[in-house]
Amino acid sequence: MGTGDIVVGLDVGTTKVCAVVGEYNHDNILEIIGMGNQPSLGLKKGSVVNIDKTVSSIMSSLEEAKLMSGVSIKSASIGIAGSHIYSFNSSGVVAVKNREIVQEDVDRVLEAAKAVVIPSDREILHVIPQKFKVDNIDGIKNPIGMCGVRLEVHVHIVTGSIPLIQNLIKCVEQAGVKVEQIVLQPIASSMSVLSSEEKELGVVLVDIGGGTTDVAVWKDGCVIHSAVIPIGGNHFTNDLAVALKITHIEAERIKTNHGCVLGEKMNQSAKITVQGLPGMKDREVQMSVIANVLGSRAEEMFTIIKEMITEKNLSAEITGGIILTGGGALIDGLQELGEYIIDRPTKIGHPIAFGGLTKVMQNPKFSTVLGLIASAQRNKKTVKRDTSVDVDHHVDLIGKLSNSLKSVFKEIF
Ligand SMILES: Nc1ncnc2c1ncn2[C@@H]1O[C@H](COP(=O)(O)OP(=O)(O)OP(=O)(O)O)[C@@H](O)[C@H]1O
Ligand SMILES: [Mg+2]
Repeated sequence: MGTGDIVVGLDVGTTKVCAVVGEYNHDNILEIIGMGNQPSLGLKKGSVVNIDKTVSSIMSSLEEAKLMSGVSIKSASIGIAGSHIYSFNSSGVVAVKNREIVQEDVDRVLEAAKAVVIPSDREILHVIPQKFKVDNIDGIKNPIGMCGVRLEVHVHIVTGSIPLIQNLIKCVEQAGVKVEQIVLQPIASSMSVLSSEEKELGVVLVDIGGGTTDVAVWKDGCVIHSAVIPIGGNHFTNDLAVALKITHIEAERIKTNHGCVLGEKMNQSAKITVQGLPGMKDREVQMSVIANVLGSRAEEMFTIIKEMITEKNLSAEITGGIILTGGGALIDGLQELGEYIIDRPTKIGHPIAFGGLTKVMQNPKFSTVLGLIASAQRNKKTVKRDTSVDVDHHVDLIGKLSNSLKSVFKEIF
């Protein structure tokens, strides 16, 4: 039996809506006690395009998580991405009155760094401190208690379109959940995938989702750049569907079961049978054709990332290389191709193991939702378990729980 202290992460993605419930045990360790993972029907490229369908997907996911955990979900940390996200670095300076720096000075300098002109239809989602400077001493992580007369801060600012942020919040609230905090998805994924050493050393986290690829660049333990690239796993699927003249469902099957982005990795003469469009015959397709189609899209995606690294002068900062995560990172050969194109060590990043549903959750597609849990834990977004509803659920919980678990396992294996 846990302590009743609960944190919830809700990842409203383009292909899936995933809710995860964590509970602290009596040793103060967070354990995953339930999850819901349902298809997402109302988003395109990371943004809500259909409120009703999104609300319904969120409700189904919450219901599944509730059945498994026995917890009625009232609030959650949510992730945000989409092509509307725009990030940049800024700085601020204030004079220090008391000579010893206190929290109030830090708050003031962060406010000063935030005072940049942004279009009226955008709002600031994050102001992430990178380093402070007290008089002439640079590279300070926490200036509180230090003496000086001038406090400077360098920050990373993430902004998003107000209407699109509001649409997401509206959907979550219509599903009966209060939004505790909004976290940029690649920052959330970083929290579950990257080690402190990697963040110090300098890495590019690339979360390849269904609709978008979300990037966060870390150095010296801080985010120094973030971006959302409008290419995701769905584009790979679409390309296959168009090139092979097959349905999206069939293209998704071929991609996940046989997809590879490197022709050299596969037997060039090997063929697979693909189901044609309705009314058409099944056909045999050479694996090298599939690798060509998927490889071109992967090349385009990695070239954009490489150009971003050059354009933002990040080359010298990312000693630790590239870490690919998100469901889209599972296409065979992506790691090798990324390493070749970007010319940096590249690996697939799996989320860290919490207690509880460890094995099931260690899939890169759950990096964001587990990062949201980690962020909620860090920012103390803990709520008390609502015991009033648990009683009703215990009646049929075991049967429903096993069904819920079965669907999760079916998807994994
Ligand atoms: N085994 C696999 N091999 C290849 N691709 C996979 C595999 N499993 C999932 N994918 C792809 O991953 C993508 C979904 O990834 P993910 O669940 O991280 O996206 P999302 O969070 O719903 O979307 P987004 O973050 O863009 O809003 C889909 O395009 C899917 O085809
Ligand atoms: Mg995602």
